[in-house]
Amino acid sequence: MKKLAILVSGRGSNFEAIARNIREGRLEAEIVAVVSNSPTAKALETAESLGLRAISLPSKGIETDTYAAMVVEALAPLQVDLICLAGFMRRVGAPLLEAYAQRILNIHPSLLPSFPGLHVQQQALDYGVKFSGCTVHFVDAGLDTGPIVMQAAVPVEDGDTADTLAARILVEEHKIFSQAIALVLSGAYRVDGRRIIRKD
Ligand code: GRF
Repeated sequence: MKKLAILVSGRGSNFEAIARNIREGRLEAEIVAVVSNSPTAKALETAESLGLRAISLPSKGIETDTYAAMVVEALAPLQVDLICLAGFMRRVGAPLLEAYAQRILNIHPSLLPSFPGLHVQQQALDYGVKFSGCTVHFVDAGLDTGPIVMQAAVPVEDGDTADTLAARILVEEHKIFSQAIALVLSGAYRVDGRRIIRKD
């Protein structure tokens, strides 16, 4: 069974969706650790209640690369195949990128390369786009710049607020993150430049 580590910072609904998809047989994998950089993250409580290994590893005041090395050390004994950033609100430092090259996925609530960074649902509304969505991508050293594995689009409605748009996007996040994880774990893709192309 392939082993996942999930990195979180807060609510953890994407983590819960992954756990549910595993439980209900839609994703063949095992979550071996849920690591939070915020000690008060709800996701840590959820992980414990699901009987999963919950690791609180506070990042406050710690420099990005130092923190990345701490995560590498915490995960070292667990033989992790793939790291999933599920609402992880810190940059990923070089030690982690090197230890897990092409083995870290992130979910981002916009159609990249539009609207990287933070508060992206508000950015999408302010720009006036008619569609937004979510992106699962490999993590590289840039901000939300790695090769795209999967995307899903949703319409922006005239009456939307950042919250209503976020909720519509989240429904799709909960689907495509697990689908992208399954694809990457299966190895049934090839990389052509920035393009991730499924093998038949
Ligand atoms: C999601 O919108 C995700 O795309 C973004 O942060 C949010 C995390 O939500 N990176 P949750 O913690 O998974 O509920």
